[in-house]
Amino acid sequence: MTHPYLNPSLDVESRVADLLGRMTLAEKIGQMTQAEKNSITPQAARGWAVGSVLSGGGGNPSPNNPKTWRAMVQAYLDAALETRLAIPLIYGVDAVHGHNNVVGATIFPHNIGLGAARDPALVERIGRATAVEVAATNVRWTFAPAVSVPQDIRWGRTYEGYGENTELVAQLGAALVRGLHGEELAQDTAVLATAKHFLADGGTKFGTSRPVDPQAMPQFGNVAPDAPDTPEHLETAIAQGVWQLDQGVADISEAELRAVHLPPYLAAMEAGALSIMVSFSSWGGLKMHAQKYLLTEVLKGELGFRGFLISDWGAIDQLDRDYIACIAQSINAGLDMIMVPYHYENFITTLTRAAENGDVSLARIDDAVRRILQVKFALGLFDRPHTDPALLGEVGSAAHRALAREAVRKSAVLLKNEGGVLPLSRSAPRLLVAGRGADDLGYQCGGWTIEWMGQPGQITNGTTILEGIRAAVAGAGQVIHAPDGDFAAGVTAGVGIVVLAEEPYAEGMGDRFDLTIPEEDVALVERVKERCQKVVVILLSGRPLIVTEPLANWDAFVAAWWPGTEGNGLSDLLFGDYPFTGKLSYTWPRSMAQIPRSALREGESLFPYGYGL
Ligand code: GLC
Repeated sequence: MTHPYLNPSLDVESRVADLLGRMTLAEKIGQMTQAEKNSITPQAARGWAVGSVLSGGGGNPSPNNPKTWRAMVQAYLDAALETRLAIPLIYGVDAVHGHNNVVGATIFPHNIGLGAARDPALVERIGRATAVEVAATNVRWTFAPAVSVPQDIRWGRTYEGYGENTELVAQLGAALVRGLHGEELAQDTAVLATAKHFLADGGTKFGTSRPVDPQAMPQFGNVAPDAPDTPEHLETAIAQGVWQLDQGVADISEAELRAVHLPPYLAAMEAGALSIMVSFSSWGGLKMHAQKYLLTEVLKGELGFRGFLISDWGAIDQLDRDYIACIAQSINAGLDMIMVPYHYENFITTLTRAAENGDVSLARIDDAVRRILQVKFALGLFDRPHTDPALLGEVGSAAHRALAREAVRKSAVLLKNEGGVLPLSRSAPRLLVAGRGADDLGYQCGGWTIEWMGQPGQITNGTTILEGIRAAVAGAGQVIHAPDGDFAAGVTAGVGIVVLAEEPYAEGMGDRFDLTIPEEDVALVERVKERCQKVVVILLSGRPLIVTEPLANWDAFVAAWWPGTEGNGLSDLLFGDYPFTGKLSYTWPRSMAQIPRSALREGESLFPYGYGL
């Protein structure tokens, strides 16, 4: 006779009640613990009865492919099934624009581009395709959508937001939740969505984040030996403005907080979101991870959120000098699962001490565990802990790449087209193509791709913009490519295309004092312009950049954001196979003086929100 909690014909409430009644304190605390995969083995996950493991940005197996991903995750799932009560482990990843850590996965445009597409049905379809690719690797949880409403584009997470407009963010965030969850949460292709980062992560004030200590690097993400955010690189980065805005203070009234930043969470909850990630940032004089009023009284009480709250990466460590205080403050504020992510033994033993000495009540622990178990039962993990391995054939499939190509077409915004230089003629005798973004998937995909901050180069498979252009023209020898614009003497053409690219980044590593387009990019376009009658500039970036002066010399200008692996979506537009339909989801400022949005007076921007030819 199996225990009631293992009986799939029983309702979730009864299964949870039965299971909770059987659990020891250690098993309950294990369910509240999430460790990152480089810090815990499957055996240790079993020994400590840990309920969740994650891959942070770049937390990949080596070699990195869908099969090795599936095997890596399965080792943790199987270890958990050997625990006393066989409570299934849930594995979480940041699949924020496709299953973006996995080489070979389809990479979709980042949210800033999907915001410009203004197409909720498209976003839902992207969520569904992403969920299938994520589930193929045995992963049933993604930390997406970010439903930030970024108000200052100097923020390194601007591109993770759909836009500056609350209604747009609410509409598209809800669409992604529906897509990820699909028809039935218990299906193995349903992936748990996480609305993040609660609350007002996009409303912080420049300069209010914590000063960066280069020696404190591990707190800021995976410090790979040559990562751009290692201490020696960091001195340069600090001079650029990193970590000035991210994790800062949202110095706004409760009225503004509720009007601008809260609606996307209501929409996500209505769409069925059952997990919410709490923000590193602060509001009302408190770090969000200690904000009991917003986390428990408002979100769980007033708004009736039934799912569970997960912390951000080591975020509770910032609450106090004393770890037991960090734990008590965050869990009593309403956190249910803690993304530790490294020292899970210390977390478990300290939370156990807090429970035994009454710093954290057993009732609070039971509530947290009940919320987590309800979601695990709803996902069908107890009844089917593994997904169908046949799904592996869907990763990077032609159908998903066609969907991504459609999304690229709909996300690019045409901001200038003097003298109708676009669309280009397929039979133009010659086209010059320059710029570091023309033939580089890394620059096309941007941050959160294969590695935490992304990186230039052939980081995965897909189609570059140049490959799309070559495939589109009639004659083979028509297209001449020189990334730095150094074409052979005397080489001229009717049209030159220059693909500029912002260096990829993630989180606070992308915060900047200044967003003016680099001088060398302006000079590159000038060099190409000397050889061509007309020049078309395409910008790959995570946000609007200041281009006001040089724009006068550009005949056409396309904001392509970070479009992902299907660069032929852009050549489809350049040659007129499809019309440009994208509309700006962020105001495009004329100068730095017009940032943040609140500094901008109506009608003074370079291009207003919603603009697009
Ligand atoms: C990061 C990000 C969060 C992400 C988490 C796991 O610090 O703030 O968006 O989901 O850690 O990678």
